[in-house]
Amino acid sequence: VGPDVVDIRKLYAQTGMFTYDPGFLSTASCQSAITYIDGDKGELLYRGYPIEQLATNCDFMETCHLLLYGELPNPTQKADFTKLVTNHTMVNEQMQFFLRGFRRDAHPMAIMTGLVGALSAFYHDSTDITNPQHREIAAIRLIAKMPTLVAMAYKYTIGQPYMYPKNNLSYAGNFLHMMFATPCEEYVVSPVLERALDRIFTLHADHEQNASTSTVRLCGSSGTNPFAAIAAGVACLWGPAHGGANEACLNMLTDIQKMGGVAKVGEFMEKVKDKNSGVKLMGFGHRVYKNYDPRAKLMQETCKEVLAELGLENDPLFKLAMALEKIALEDDYFVSRKLYPNVDFYSGIVQRAIGIPTPLFTAVFALARTSGWIAQLNEMIGDPEYKIGRPRQLFTGSVKRDVKPIATR
Ligand code: ACO
Repeated sequence: VGPDVVDIRKLYAQTGMFTYDPGFLSTASCQSAITYIDGDKGELLYRGYPIEQLATNCDFMETCHLLLYGELPNPTQKADFTKLVTNHTMVNEQMQFFLRGFRRDAHPMAIMTGLVGALSAFYHDSTDITNPQHREIAAIRLIAKMPTLVAMAYKYTIGQPYMYPKNNLSYAGNFLHMMFATPCEEYVVSPVLERALDRIFTLHADHEQNASTSTVRLCGSSGTNPFAAIAAGVACLWGPAHGGANEACLNMLTDIQKMGGVAKVGEFMEKVKDKNSGVKLMGFGHRVYKNYDPRAKLMQETCKEVLAELGLENDPLFKLAMALEKIALEDDYFVSRKLYPNVDFYSGIVQRAIGIPTPLFTAVFALARTSGWIAQLNEMIGDPEYKIGRPRQLFTGSVKRDVKPIATR
């Protein structure tokens, strides 16, 4: 910054000027070196690496290492990092008593918000967010324990015993084991499904300053502990305009299927285009992408692979999704608004084929996004210039007035 360049923050502080930008359409809330999105080109890079290359050539452990430490690991670093994560997959036995307080029919995201926040009650040696060692061990614990917590939430809702993690399995393989094995029966992990799930994790790992990541940053900026900040991210992700879209999208496809399937696609699209209907095409549109979401392309490929592996090539919901996409890509309503499929359009079909129940989809997203949240939190707190997040407002309420005695009001 040269002498002629105005420091805009100082100028605002001196003059009281501020910007009004609802929904942060054009306001950067931070500087970040983690994830880059070119929404017009449909490009996504983690630490400079294209998502297509990461999803094809790397696994989720490598992606986590990249997000947290800035570089892809070499084989020794990967083995060390994986071992470290694996050592922390178990959760305290007390967690199961906490879980028991929930109704069996609770939504998994309600349970996850509670469970993740509760971790701060167990790990007092990693709750000081200003201490880099505390942040690092909290990061490892969170990445390691999320699959265990999601699987526990699932087993609880179906009334089955929890399955302990198996540390000889991969990160994704272990999650499948904890979800689908029972004490009576082993779950044989299919390499195709394991790879597909690992890819879902990589594709969802980070996405710069989306609503949940901004929530994690804002929450963490007060100096709260890392577990509490990540729990705030889980709560934000739940919404149907954000991570909840995968569940909402699958429910939408199921409803159209019940109405008559592909034959009813045209009728459904007319409803979407009618602004008075309140119906949206879930899994379509994005605040930043004004082109095809690169993750949706990879997810569509994964969908084909998984369905072929399971002999479900004629899956009616996949056919329906393809039919909706085809119409949307040629329809002026979607073309003029630059609405394309986002990552959630196909991810639900893949998860459903793997056997993950619809209400758990967003919890799987949260599991994956934890790596990005914690990397972003670490970046923010590690910056010596970081400040507590404190948005301003445009006040539109009453002018100053006097309180009247209650009898005269
Ligand atoms: N179906 C129909 N119309 C849509 C859709 C959709 N899915 N998305 C946007 N539009 C329309 C809007 O009605 C608006 O139309 P208008 O200009 O006539 O008023 C126009 O497209 C622009 O949309 P905005 O809502 O202004 O775009 P914004 O950037 O605020 O919202 C969002 C983006 C929330 C993702 C939106 O596209 C949406 O609700 N999509 C469906 C939910 C979804 O899939 N969310 C997942 C996002 S990805 C993720 O979080 C992982």
